[in-house]
Formats: sequence, C-alpha cells, structure tokens
Amino acid sequence: MSELDLLVVGDVNPDVIVTALGVQPEFGQVEQLVDSASLVMGGSAAITAAGAARLGLRVGLCGVVGDDDLGQLMMVRLTETGVDLRHLRVDAYTPTGMSVILNRGDDRAVLTASGTISALSPDDLDALPDRPARHVHAASYYLMSDAFRDVLPAAFGRFRSAGATTSLDTNWDPHERWDLSALLAETDVFLPNEAELTAIGRSPILDRAIEVVSENGCDVAVKRGPQGAVAQIAGQRLRVLRTPPVDFVDAVGAGDSFDAGFLTGRLLGRDPGQCLAMAVIAGTLSTASTGGTDSQPTADEVELWMSSVKVDDLGGGPA
Ligand SMILES: Nc1ncnc2c1ncn2[C@@H]1O[C@H](COP(=O)(O)OP(=O)(O)OP(=O)(O)O)[C@@H](O)[C@H]1O
Ligand SMILES: [Mg+2]
Repeated sequence: MSELDLLVVGDVNPDVIVTALGVQPEFGQVEQLVDSASLVMGGSAAITAAGAARLGLRVGLCGVVGDDDLGQLMMVRLTETGVDLRHLRVDAYTPTGMSVILNRGDDRAVLTASGTISALSPDDLDALPDRPARHVHAASYYLMSDAFRDVLPAAFGRFRSAGATTSLDTNWDPHERWDLSALLAETDVFLPNEAELTAIGRSPILDRAIEVVSENGCDVAVKRGPQGAVAQIAGQRLRVLRTPPVDFVDAVGAGDSFDAGFLTGRLLGRDPGQCLAMAVIAGTLSTASTGGTDSQPTADEVELWMSSVKVDDLGGGPA
C-alpha cells in the first residue's frame, strides 16, 4: 500500500442540517415548518479528509463510528470520496455521533450528541504506526475524551520523530476552558478560527493572540469567515481580505475545507501565500451548497480561482 499523504484524526459523524430562515424554535409541542432538511457527511475530521481527497491527496481517516445505519452511511460516503478507512474503528457498543444544525443563513445553532465522536481512545493512537502518513492532522480536540487529549501531544511527538508533520484544528470548546496543554509545542500548523484563536491566545487582539500561539514554534492560519483569513507562516504575516464570489448557502464545514486546502498546498510544496489562497478558495467554494462536502472543489477548480485571490504580504508586521 502506498504511503498516505495525510491522516486526519478526529470526529466522524453525519450532520442533519435544518434550514429555517426566520423561524425561532419553540417548545410546548409547537410544530413549525422550515425551508429544508438534509442528512449530510459531517464531523470536522471527516469533512477535512473528504476535502483533501477531492483535492487529490492520498488521505486516511482515524476515527470511530457505531455499528449502525449512520456509521454505515459515513463509511459508504467516505469510501466514495476516496478516503482510506484502514484506521477507522467500528464500535459495537456506542451509537454514531450526530449533530443537528439549525441554519439561519449566516448564523447557526448546533446540537451534538457525542456518541462515537468522543470514543477515540489512547489505544487508537497507539495502534497507529510511527509514521502513519507524511502529515497528521487532528480535528475537534475539545470534543475528545480527557484520556485521548492527555496522550495526543506524545503521539504527535512520536509522528514528528519519524519525520511526519502535524496540524491541529481544535474547533470550539463546549466547556470554554480553551486549555491546549503541551499540544501546540508538537504542532507544525495551527488552524483555528478567530474566536477560537483569541480564546486560546488569551487576548481579544488578533495580532497579539497570533504572537502568543506562535511562540510555540508553529505556523498559524486563522479563519475569518467572509473576511477571509490571516496567517503567520515562518515569521511572514499574510492576509486575504476578499473571498471569491460564490452563491452562499451555508458555512457548515467551511473551516474544515479551508484546512484541507491549506494542508494540500503545504503537502504539494506550494509557497505560504499560495497555501493561504488555496485554503480560502477551498473554504469559500464549500459554502455554495448545503453541508460541508457537496461543493468541495477539485484541484483544477481551485487553480481556476488562484489568480483572482489577492494575498497581502505584511512582512513581519501585524495584520
Ligand atoms: N459567509 C462566507 N462567505 C464567504 N466565504 C466564507 C464565508 N464563511 C466562511 N467562508 C470561507 O471559509 C473559510 C473558513 O470559514 P470560517 O471562518 O467559517 O471557519 P470556521 O469557523 O472554522 O468554520 P467551521 O464551522 O467549519 O469550524 C473562510 O476563511 C472563508 O474563506
Ligand atoms: Mg472550525
């Protein structure tokens, strides 16, 4: 079997997306009509893996699904997308996790039943080879169990010692503690959104928070929704202010598709500005359909946009 370019470790679950423009959910057994509802591939790790596979990388996924219809659905969809499932575990005792996303255009509420999402264990990491891929990305760190989070820094260290690189997208911390312990010191690329970065960097000022986290020696690319992204890569500050014009449907998983674009650029040896442009293009194009994966671009589709995305080089200065 040829070596994987990318192994994504984390959450694998379906999303139910309910689009309800102008509807406020009401209890008291009230029935309300909404615009649409669909069952799609979700989970930050699964969306990132699918996005990178669509961009042409050899991608594997390390996660857990239940022995149920939803787990089966995820495995079928991921296989169709070309994601290698040799490191995916089926847990016979835990139901597949699921998120219900109430979408109101540019805002959403998310209700998540953890199920197998938090079933990834230290044993799952121990079972991985020292170099499971050229690069290992961990997603949704705060949805994982304490036991898993405790050993993730050592696992990242083991992969790096064997020559792999690492990245992290924590996503939101439902407990809002924002503790990252020793993990950033073993991380090559950190991929938060702006709210997550300022919480983790313990500063409301974006530039200061970037400085704080990059003291750990990692590159940082920060997602800013419709305002694009900023990055600090090898000491160079870069910024994209304008995203490609697409017909926006929802931003579910846009950050995960951004990660896929960024990591694909990096693994192809593209320069930092091109990596950031690829990330913004992949994130933005993913907003053109319901859920995270349906409009993830191919490499050719990303290339069509490359010349129209302007990357500002701010040198060593602030964004
Ligand atoms: N409303 C939007 N219009 C245009 N582009 C968007 C929009 N929202 C997100 N994007 C694109 O997607 C990228 C990542 O989006 P976002 O900031 O929503 O990440 P996130 O908060 O991590 O998302 P996720 O919900 O996947 O965790 C942005 O950098 C941008 O390129
Ligand atoms: Mg995110």
